[in-house]
Amino acid sequence: MSRYFKAEITENKKLNNDCNLLTFVPFRKPAEPKPGQFFMIGMEGDYDPLLKRPFSLFRRTQRGFQILYRIRGRGTSLMRNLGRGSVIHVLGPLGNSYPMPPEDHAPVIVAGGIGIASVFSLAERLAAARNKAHIYYGARGASDLLMVGALKKAAKRLSLTTDDGSCGERGCITDMLSVFSWGASSERNTVIYACGPRKMLETVAGIAAGRGIEAYVSMEENMACGIGACLGCVVKTVSGHKRVCKEGPVFNAKEIVW
Ligand SMILES: Cc1cc2nc3c(=O)[nH]c(=O)nc-3n(C[C@H](O)[C@H](O)[C@H](O)COP(=O)(O)OP(=O)(O)OC[C@H]3O[C@@H](n4cnc5c(N)ncnc54)[C@H](O)[C@@H]3O)c2cc1C
Ligand code: FES
Repeated sequence: MSRYFKAEITENKKLNNDCNLLTFVPFRKPAEPKPGQFFMIGMEGDYDPLLKRPFSLFRRTQRGFQILYRIRGRGTSLMRNLGRGSVIHVLGPLGNSYPMPPEDHAPVIVAGGIGIASVFSLAERLAAARNKAHIYYGARGASDLLMVGALKKAAKRLSLTTDDGSCGERGCITDMLSVFSWGASSERNTVIYACGPRKMLETVAGIAAGRGIEAYVSMEENMACGIGACLGCVVKTVSGHKRVCKEGPVFNAKEIVW
């Protein structure tokens, strides 16, 4: 089955100065995406930029999908201007997904900045499976903490940090994670899922390794094809170079050579 489809935008909602929530409805039903997977998205009739851009599945809606995106460069600036009824070209769902935790394991989610886009659907999936996660979410300031109301509903507990202290604790989310005690026995039954800046993921990997906890990280690299053909997205792992778009984006944190 082809993973290419066209879709119509039904909403492109501004959440703050540089982040939008885009809702689109496919013209034909694609494969069902899983938390952690992503779509390559391009614009109708616009060949600048030529390449599609990768965006994580944020949430499934009744008729379509949502992505949460930060305006960074040329592609996302054009995307910001897309209105209701605009058509986009989509490839996906692509990549692997977050493995669900064993039933007796407590999930912990760690998100930094726009990394929340990748783990949000996992939080909702876990809540639906009656195994809500403790969510750690950090951002620059209060206005950069997105979808907090929905996260509160999906989380067993929500811990927030901001760089400037304008909401939650002041500091990095990994500072909070590193001092948190799950208790020696429950640590073995914890699984961490993380998405955010590479430095944050490396710190999470270190905390998990130190405590003997399994951790899965979603890696981000610039992508050209998204389907494993160009080798533009490789990361170094303990078993050689791997493609983020094909073998990832989700990796066991122990696999990555930081
Ligand atoms: C698997 C995957 C899932 C992603 N999911 C999301 C998501 O859900 N929401 C979201 O906002 N973003 C996500 N990204 C990042 C997003 O793809 C980039 O922000 C986007 O491609 C930038 O396109 P642009 O044309 O606006 O920027 P460009 O003009 O191409 O680049 C502008 C600047 O952004 C940098 N940049 C481009 N791509 C990335 C990247 N992948 N990581 C870090 N810096 C980058 C460039 O180096 C450059 O400095 C994801 C990336 C990957 C690989
Ligand atoms: S983006 Fe081309 S191989 Fe991953």
